[in-house]
Amino acid sequence: MSNYPDYRPRRLRRTAALRRLVRETHLVPSQLVLPMFVRAGRNTRVPVASMPGVFQLSVDEFVRDASAAAEAGVGGVLLFGIPEHKDATGTSAWDEHGPVQEAVRAAKREIPGLVVITDVCMCEYTDHGHCGVLRDGDVDNDATLDLLAREAVSHAAAGADIVAPSDMMDGRVGAIRMALDDAGYSHTPILSYAAKFAGPFYGPFRDAAESTPKFGDRRSYQMDSANSDEALREVDLDIAEGADMLMVKPAGPFLDIIRRVKDHTGYPLAAYQVSGEYSMIKAAAEQGWIDGERVMMDSLLGIRRAGADVVITYFAVEAARVLARGEGGA
Ligand code: PBG
Repeated sequence: MSNYPDYRPRRLRRTAALRRLVRETHLVPSQLVLPMFVRAGRNTRVPVASMPGVFQLSVDEFVRDASAAAEAGVGGVLLFGIPEHKDATGTSAWDEHGPVQEAVRAAKREIPGLVVITDVCMCEYTDHGHCGVLRDGDVDNDATLDLLAREAVSHAAAGADIVAPSDMMDGRVGAIRMALDDAGYSHTPILSYAAKFAGPFYGPFRDAAESTPKFGDRRSYQMDSANSDEALREVDLDIAEGADMLMVKPAGPFLDIIRRVKDHTGYPLAAYQVSGEYSMIKAAAEQGWIDGERVMMDSLLGIRRAGADVVITYFAVEAARVLARGEGGA
């Protein structure tokens, strides 16, 4: 490489057209996924106080918003359910008429081109708010696997394009794969929340999904934020058990993990820009302290640049609309 003054990097930064020509990373709407919260009822939109612009939606309202997302070019939606009934073992999770199952059927009927991903976890369905069944005050790993498998099969039966386990039990990907295959859904892919870190960034989500644990926290099953080598062991296990796609979560504070997992596996990789990341940008923008639209686009570009193929974000529709204007970092 030649040095200054022969090489002047600024030469390629002088105009927008030049910058566009040599841009390395691109955000495209088809690789954005919008998380959505569905609940029972009709004509219902309940705003989530800690997440401006996010709502719990009845299935009819969900179809309206998901159609608008598809029209904006968004590639997929990720569904979470708020059940009418919670109990100790989360039995509503596999109710064939639960909000997620009904929403999947409606979406596949009305918006067939949109990829429908379902979050597979127990925390929205258990009355204690943990991601599995309890024994002696802790989540019982092996007893939870069957329940997750039942939930995943009921999502596949409703027509889910991808199931995405987010519980962080050991062995869940293998258990879900086997159950899907046995039930005739060997074609349904698994997107594993492989490296999911415990921590405060999920706070606003727990308002949205009504899934705050009634006692304790999730540190006995979600990963310790300090660990990066362990993330590679987690993804290796999930691949061995049959994961088709991997996820790192949260995204922004864990960009190094995204890059390591991508380099290590070469697998299709999603990263989840979680509720806390979203709400921090929204709140600062509402105060007028940052340019919300530009920070949104930069935050998403950074996640793509780190190595994520798919970005799961509450900004999906807003970002797709910015991209449609031909902007997005220009
Ligand atoms: C369910 C689940 C959570 C999120 C996605 N799936 C909550 C949690 O683990 O407590 C968080 C998503 C977000 O914060 O946007 N286990």
